Amino acid sequence: MKWSISTKLFLVLVAISIATVTAMGLSARISFTRGFIGYLNEQSTEYVESLIPRLADAYESEGGWGFLSHNPRSWYRLLDNRSRRDRDGPPQLSEVDFTAVQLRLTLLDADYEIVVGNRNFSKDSPMKAVTVRGETVGWLTLVPYQQATAAADVRFQKRQLTQNWLIGLGTVVVAALAAWWLSRLLVTPLTRIASATHNLASGDYKVRIPVTSKDEIGGLSEDFNRLAQALAHNEQLRRSFMADVSHELRTPLSVLKGELEAIEDGVRTMTPATLASLQSEVSTLSKLVNDLYDLSLSDIGALSYRMTDVEIGDVLETTLAAFRQRMTERELKVETNIDPRVLVNGDEGRLQQLFNNLLENCARYTQIGGTVRVSCRSTNGDVLVEIEDSGPGVPADILPRIFERFVRAEASRNRSHGGAGLGLAICRNIVEAHGGTIAASAGALGGLSIGIKLPRLRNLQV
Ligand SMILES: Nc1ncnc2c1ncn2[C@@H]1O[C@H](COP(=O)(O)OP(=O)(O)OP(=O)(O)O)[C@@H](O)[C@H]1O
Ligand SMILES: [Mg+2]
Repeated sequence: MKWSISTKLFLVLVAISIATVTAMGLSARISFTRGFIGYLNEQSTEYVESLIPRLADAYESEGGWGFLSHNPRSWYRLLDNRSRRDRDGPPQLSEVDFTAVQLRLTLLDADYEIVVGNRNFSKDSPMKAVTVRGETVGWLTLVPYQQATAAADVRFQKRQLTQNWLIGLGTVVVAALAAWWLSRLLVTPLTRIASATHNLASGDYKVRIPVTSKDEIGGLSEDFNRLAQALAHNEQLRRSFMADVSHELRTPLSVLKGELEAIEDGVRTMTPATLASLQSEVSTLSKLVNDLYDLSLSDIGALSYRMTDVEIGDVLETTLAAFRQRMTERELKVETNIDPRVLVNGDEGRLQQLFNNLLENCARYTQIGGTVRVSCRSTNGDVLVEIEDSGPGVPADILPRIFERFVRAEASRNRSHGGAGLGLAICRNIVEAHGGTIAASAGALGGLSIGIKLPRLRNLQV
C-alpha cells in the first residue's frame, strides 16, 4: 500500500495521542487505587488496631459477645472514639468518618461466626485477633474500601472511560490538525523539489526552486539550485566543446579537400611543394586528433604515467635543443638559467610534451627579434620552472582562462600561425598529474610568463 507522508504523519500522531491518553487513564486509575484508596485503608487499619483493647475489655466485663449479638446500637456505641460527654454534642468535622470504617467492621467470635457488623466480609480479609488473658476470643475484620464501594467504583470507572474517550477524540482532532499543518510545512516544499527534480531529469536545466526557509529543506533547495546550475554549465561546456572540435576539424579538412580537388581538376600540379602543403594540413589534423585523444584520456583518468626519477634540467635542455633552429629562424634570443642537479619524480615523456607545448607557444607567438627565457631552480620543497618571453603576451581578460580548452588570444585567432588552443590545457593536466601547479602571468620581459611548481625529489650530488 502506498501511503503519502501526510497520512503517515497523521497515523503516527494519532497513535501517539491514543497511547498517551491510555497511559494517562491507566496511571490515574493505578494511582487512585494504590494511592488514595491505599491511604484510606491504611487509616482504617490504625483505627481498627485502636479498637482491639476496647473490645477485649468489653468482652471481659460483659463476660462474652452476647451483649453485642444482633445489637448494632451497642456495637456502634462501643466503636465511638469520643468521650461519653462529647458524644451528646454534634460530631466535629475531623471526627466524621469519611471512609465509613465503622460500617465496614465485622466482629467474629473465636469460631469465625459473625457476632455483629458488616455481613459482606470475606474470610480471606486480614483479621485481628481479640485476646483476653492470652486466649483468642474473637476476630475483628474490615471489609476493604473498594469492595464496600463497588457500585461507586463502577460509576467512577464509567465516568473515567467516557472522559478518556472524549480526551482521545479531542487529541485525534488535534493530531489531524497538526498533521495537516505539518504536511503543509514539510510536504509542500518536498513536492516542489520532487517536481523540479523531475523536470531537471528530463533535461530542463533552467528549473530553480525558490528558497523560502533556512532549515534542511531550504538547504536542500539551495543544493538543488546549485546542482541545476552546474548541470546547465556542464551542458553549455559540452556543447561549445563539440562546436569547437567540429570547427577545428573542419578547417584543415576543407583546406585538404580544396587542394585535392584542385589537383584533380588539373588546376594545381602535383609538385613537392603541393605535397608538403598537403602533408602540413594532415599533420595539423593528426596533432589535433592526438591532443583531443590525450585530453579525453586524462578526463577519464586513463592517461598512463610511468613515474621515474627524472633530471628535469636535462629534459628542458633536450627539448630546448629541438627548438634552437626555429628560434634562430625567428631571431629569438634564448636565455637559460637551468640548475642541472634537480630530480623530480615524473614521466619523462610527458614532461617533454609539457615543455614542448610551452616552447612551441614561445616560438610561435613571440615577436621576431624577441627574447625567450627559461629557468629551472629548486626552492624549499619545490622545483620552479619558468618559461617567459618578450611579448606580445596575452590580454589580461584572457589570462585567467588561458588553460581552458580552445581558449586563444584574439590576435592568434588567425589560423595561419595559431593552434587549436589545446596545448596549455594539456600542460595543466600533465602538471597536475605530477602533483604540481601551473600558472600564467604577465612576465617581466613584457610577454607571457608560465610558472610551474613541481614537488622536488632531491638534489643530485655533484
Ligand atoms: N607565449 C605566448 N605568447 C603569447 N600568447 C600565447 C603564448 N602562449 C599561448 N598564448 C596564447 O594562448 C592561447 C592558447 O595556447 P595553447 O597552447 O593552449 O593553444 P594554441 O597554441 O593556440 O594551440 P595548440 O597548442 O593546441 O596547437 C594561444 O592561442 C595564444 O593566443
Ligand atoms: Mg600551443
